[in-house]
Amino acid sequence: MKVFVHTFGCQMNEYDSARAAEIFGRRGYMPTDDPKQADVIVVNTCSIRDKAEQKLASALGRYSGLKRHRDRRLVVMGCTAQLRSRALAGRFSAVDLFLGTDRVAELDDWIRAGMPRETRVARADAESYRFLEGRPARVPVSVPVTVQKGCDNFCAYCVVPAARGPQIDRPAAEILAEVDRMVLAGAKEVVLIGQNVNAYGKVGRGRLATNRFAALLREVAARPGLSRVRFTTSHPRDLDVATVQAVADLPVLCPHFHLPVQSGSDRILRKMGRGYSRKTYLEKVEKIRRLIPDAAISTDLIVGFPGETKQDFAETMSLIDEVGFTFSYSFKYSPRPDTRAFDMEDDVSESVKSDRLARLQDKQAHFMGRNLHAWVGRTATVLVEGPSRRGGGQWMGRTETFEIVNFEACLDQPRELTGRSVEMEIVADRGHSLEGRILQKRAESMGGGL
Ligand code: SAH
Ligand code: SF4
Ligand code: F3S
Repeated sequence: MKVFVHTFGCQMNEYDSARAAEIFGRRGYMPTDDPKQADVIVVNTCSIRDKAEQKLASALGRYSGLKRHRDRRLVVMGCTAQLRSRALAGRFSAVDLFLGTDRVAELDDWIRAGMPRETRVARADAESYRFLEGRPARVPVSVPVTVQKGCDNFCAYCVVPAARGPQIDRPAAEILAEVDRMVLAGAKEVVLIGQNVNAYGKVGRGRLATNRFAALLREVAARPGLSRVRFTTSHPRDLDVATVQAVADLPVLCPHFHLPVQSGSDRILRKMGRGYSRKTYLEKVEKIRRLIPDAAISTDLIVGFPGETKQDFAETMSLIDEVGFTFSYSFKYSPRPDTRAFDMEDDVSESVKSDRLARLQDKQAHFMGRNLHAWVGRTATVLVEGPSRRGGGQWMGRTETFEIVNFEACLDQPRELTGRSVEMEIVADRGHSLEGRILQKRAESMGGGL
């Protein structure tokens, strides 16, 4: 028996998909990359922008078609299953199970019950909520570990609080136990994931607020067997000095902050309800730079939020100039039902949104290129993730600050470099990545026959 899992959306979904695959695995289902071979097709869905939902519709059309050829089951889980199971059920009658974001663990009951037609989307209450446990046999070099679910922020444009419910923090003991299990299964890097990791254990509001994220980072960093710890996503309002200090103190914590700013205009930030201003954002950037001069800062940006004027957009552009992000994800504002901004007029035209996005991405490409170019001639510690997708005997890894490095292994090196930390000279920049050469002397000292 085989299961095929198609994952849309963010790392939360990737994490849930991995857990779903494990549940099927324990019931005798092998993973497959080919939906035609699968007895069960699972689609893990995302509603963050309209485009994501359109892609889902075409995937569901395809998979519904496959059901006609032979008996198999179709499962729809994730954020769109949570938000729109009724509408999807009307359009796609081939779906056997709609599974809400709090219900992934129930897949096992469903399999045991003979995989009947069902919709399980009720939200868990905070007291009874249990986090899924990752118990994989083998994992890639870098794996996500959930530290919290949901989000309490209600940014005006964002569907996540509706799709995932309020923020619930996972108990630290569970997180640490899972980190240990991931290391045993082969992980060298864990990425602590949550929608607002800096609000982990948060109590109080405003200037008096405190959180336990820095303490958690220190506990995770102390687990044996880990080469690196990353975390995402940081919310600029809740990122505190204690967290930056932990990253500055502990080499195992990667000096990279993904700090979504969304806009450079105070007026728009206020309308979005982000809880920080341009000035306070820049102060946090300054703090990071002061404590960790080589830290990478990346971001997310939205163009064309309701009411965004030329001047607002110019402020976003000048903020990019001021910070010099190493990379960014940028999006055209997409009105989402179940959000506050849905009631605001979507008054920036599609062509203006496209034009602003193109200009912003040009600027970002410039800074990304500048950052990569500055690496040439420097040395970097690269954690090797595996053979490069480009093939040709190349390997791929990442620097601590998240740049991709491709390189060739020399003949006297072992065949398996996956999971090793290798000292490298960066010899060239290649658009979106770097090219490296292993430094022999350092490599020899790494043991393991190198
Ligand atoms: N929790 C993270 C972001 C999660 S969503 C944070 O607060 O930063 C990932 C990104 O998608 C957001 O940072 C935002 O840039 C983008 N996004 C979310 N809703 C959107 C919408 N309605 N239209 C366009 N982009 C959106
Ligand atoms: Fe969405 Fe804002 Fe929460 Fe991020 S912090 S998930 S953007 S509501
Ligand atoms: Fe998408 Fe849900 Fe993640 S809406 S971005 S899959 S939390």
